[in-house]
Amino acid sequence: MSVNVEFVPDGRHGVVAEGTYLWDAAKRLGLRLPAECEGRGECDTCAVIVREGATLLSGLTGAERTRLSPERLAAGERLACQTKIERAGDLVLEPVPATERQETAEEVKQDLRAEFREMPLTQKLATLVELEAIAATQTFKAIADVPASFFEKGLDYVVNFGRARARRERQARRPAEHVGGVKKKTEADKSSS
Ligand code: FES
Repeated sequence: MSVNVEFVPDGRHGVVAEGTYLWDAAKRLGLRLPAECEGRGECDTCAVIVREGATLLSGLTGAERTRLSPERLAAGERLACQTKIERAGDLVLEPVPATERQETAEEVKQDLRAEFREMPLTQKLATLVELEAIAATQTFKAIADVPASFFEKGLDYVVNFGRARARRERQARRPAEHVGGVKKKTEADKSSS
């Protein structure tokens, strides 16, 4: 069975299969919702407001209860990466505006660039000198902190580490409620319990 999905206000719409996550549905319709934590339920950048069809969706996950306030939940917000379409029907969704959710790293960068552009020249120069000093200090500290054994183990270590991390990340992306496993508690989960 299929589901008719429409995104407002831009009006893009289309059909997706049951079992599709809202984030994937958006992507299939050509809409790239931000996903700062890469779908692990650890931010709110992928939040959408469900305007119609809330009953077609999976129940709230622990991540959604942690990340979205009671007011936001009451307004129909869901985390697109955590919400699966479970029944056929019509869905109308609206991405939460950037001003009402956490900024992504890219948005923060854009804000800083804009702020920098607006600075008078003398302030720009002072800021650049300060940044240069911070970068040099951090680079030196990072090199000093790396243990010598890391270099000795060589490229294999780096490759295996990268593979294991990618595996963990893939598994961590799905809500525990949907895979029947016990999802590792996030820092936010721990502080809220
Ligand atoms: S991308 Fe971070 S919660 Fe969905």
